[in-house]
Amino acid sequence: MLKPQKDDIDLETSVEIADGIYWIGFFDEQSGLHCNPYLIIDNDEAMVIDGGSRPDFATVMMKILQTGIAPNQIVALLYQHYDPDLCGSIPNFEDIIQRKDLKIISDSANLMFIRHYSVATRLLPISKINNQYTFSSGRTLQFIKTPYCHSGGSIVTFDPKSGILFTSDLFGGLGREWELHLKLGPECRECMDSKQCLQKKDNCPVNDIINFHKTVMPSRKALRYSLEKILDIPFTMIAPQHGSIISDKEIMHAVFQGLATLEEVGIDGIVNDDYAFNSGHLRERFK
Ligand SMILES: [Fe+2]
Ligand SMILES: [Fe+2]
Repeated sequence: MLKPQKDDIDLETSVEIADGIYWIGFFDEQSGLHCNPYLIIDNDEAMVIDGGSRPDFATVMMKILQTGIAPNQIVALLYQHYDPDLCGSIPNFEDIIQRKDLKIISDSANLMFIRHYSVATRLLPISKINNQYTFSSGRTLQFIKTPYCHSGGSIVTFDPKSGILFTSDLFGGLGREWELHLKLGPECRECMDSKQCLQKKDNCPVNDIINFHKTVMPSRKALRYSLEKILDIPFTMIAPQHGSIISDKEIMHAVFQGLATLEEVGIDGIVNDDYAFNSGHLRERFK
């Protein structure tokens, strides 16, 4: 199930992607849709970001333990939207963490659904903490709303200390070939402009990113609005919940460019822009 990494990163263990920040996911070659939960360790406190699905829990927890963190050092679970691929393991985390002061943090529009996974944990809307979370050390994470990318309450999270922007489904990809860090050769960048693999490769990260956004994001308007909003954030690395981490500035630029000019996103691929509701149809139906 685990795939060896070409750049010699051992994917069977947690991988430290920045000081005290770990990738704690795994690659599921069968499904193609693997998830990237992350762990932030700040002194003796830890936060799990987009913890993962229920079947993934044993692997994710094993990777957390490998970092040397004990479950009851996890003070908060952050969910950037409410899908089961992030939230399915909430009851497992609650069972093992056993902290009365554990918090589940998200936008209130997500918590409306997340409460159906949770048994006992305090739900903390980001609006109550001024859209930021502060660890005991004073280190602060910033939450930025990316509405309808893809859920109404979707957020991304910026860690100024590491420069990492955790983006949940934004910048994700879905494919059977995978590397932890995205690499695009010059030829792939042309493919990003063309929105498809010009070499007709079976497994191409450009196709994986393009197709994922066309399927998961609801519309061009939603995607473009969020892309432009997050351009203002001084991030140096993008850590999505699916697909690969992006840390090369030129690759980041190419991916932004490709997604900002993507057509046929969500509903845009189903109905034409000039679609208008037919009132005559309605009158006819109920006459
Ligand atoms: Fe999602
Ligand atoms: Fe997802």
